Amino acid sequence: MQEIARIAREARERMAAAETLSELDRLRVEYLGRKGAITRRLKELDALPPAQRPAAGKAVNDAKRGVQQEFERRRAALGEQVLERRMAGEKMDVTLPGRGQRAGAPHPVTRTLRRVEDLLQRAGFDIEEGPDIEDDFHNFEALNIPPLHPARAMHDTFYLDDGLLLRTHTSPVQIRVMRRARPPIHMIAPGRVYRCDFDITHSPMFHQVEGLAVDEAVSFADLKGVVTGFLRAFFEESDLPIRFRPSYFPFTEPSAEVDIRWRHGSGRHDWLEIMGCGMVHPNVLKAVGYDAGRYSGYAFGLGIERLAMLRHGIDDLRILFENDLRFCEQFSA
Ligand code: PHE
Repeated sequence: MQEIARIAREARERMAAAETLSELDRLRVEYLGRKGAITRRLKELDALPPAQRPAAGKAVNDAKRGVQQEFERRRAALGEQVLERRMAGEKMDVTLPGRGQRAGAPHPVTRTLRRVEDLLQRAGFDIEEGPDIEDDFHNFEALNIPPLHPARAMHDTFYLDDGLLLRTHTSPVQIRVMRRARPPIHMIAPGRVYRCDFDITHSPMFHQVEGLAVDEAVSFADLKGVVTGFLRAFFEESDLPIRFRPSYFPFTEPSAEVDIRWRHGSGRHDWLEIMGCGMVHPNVLKAVGYDAGRYSGYAFGLGIERLAMLRHGIDDLRILFENDLRFCEQFSA
């Protein structure tokens, strides 16, 4: 009985000193497990003379209960310690300043495109789309630019195989829309166009918005009204001086280039060419099967990069396509 008391004391002391849950569990096995020191004593009771069994049995059972209690106590204490340590490790300072979220923003070309679309949609034009890869018919021939026409030289075309090409302007969308619809037509066609040209004011890919209105009795006065209203709204200048200067495009007659009176940063004024336009050429109406005696129309085409540069004071076109975040971020508002 003395020995069992000693073993139990030793077990309780070692358990109380256990530093980890696994160490504690090893001690539980050592004393209380199937082959543990105390369990073994319990089994030996059978070998005692019957008269000694009750007292010895009580002593072993008391010892066992005491060790078990110590085990539970220590396990609870260690469990709490583990939890506390973990919470200390995960502690966070809710007063620290946040890392901040940098919101993205549309590219200035995209912003300008949307602005143009929005203003012209409000003026009654529907958005149409056409493919970037075009054929000679839509990009040139139906637009009154026959194979040997000198105007082709102005276009620096990227040719692909099978007579296909990258469209050099958005005007082929005029043809596509007129071939599938009947007047009245009021459409704009925003999109990418391609020309083999690259310098401070030219990029091999750039964006245009085409405009087309066809109906009975559409006049040059309608064209002037729409273009003037649009440009003044775009630049938010209700008396912006605008000039229609006679020009030439094979698919319009008469044709004009539109200039705006622009005040440079230096204070100097200049006429700046901003778009091309004109009355749809009768040959174009015929090419799409319209009765040129009954219908008339106007068309215009403007370059989005040009507008974006003027509106944002950008003097080198190439910076628009470098994707330098320091540049792009200036437009996040
Ligand atoms: N397509 C012409 C260009 O790219 C612009 C234009 C469109 C001119 C419509 C007149 C009418 O230069």
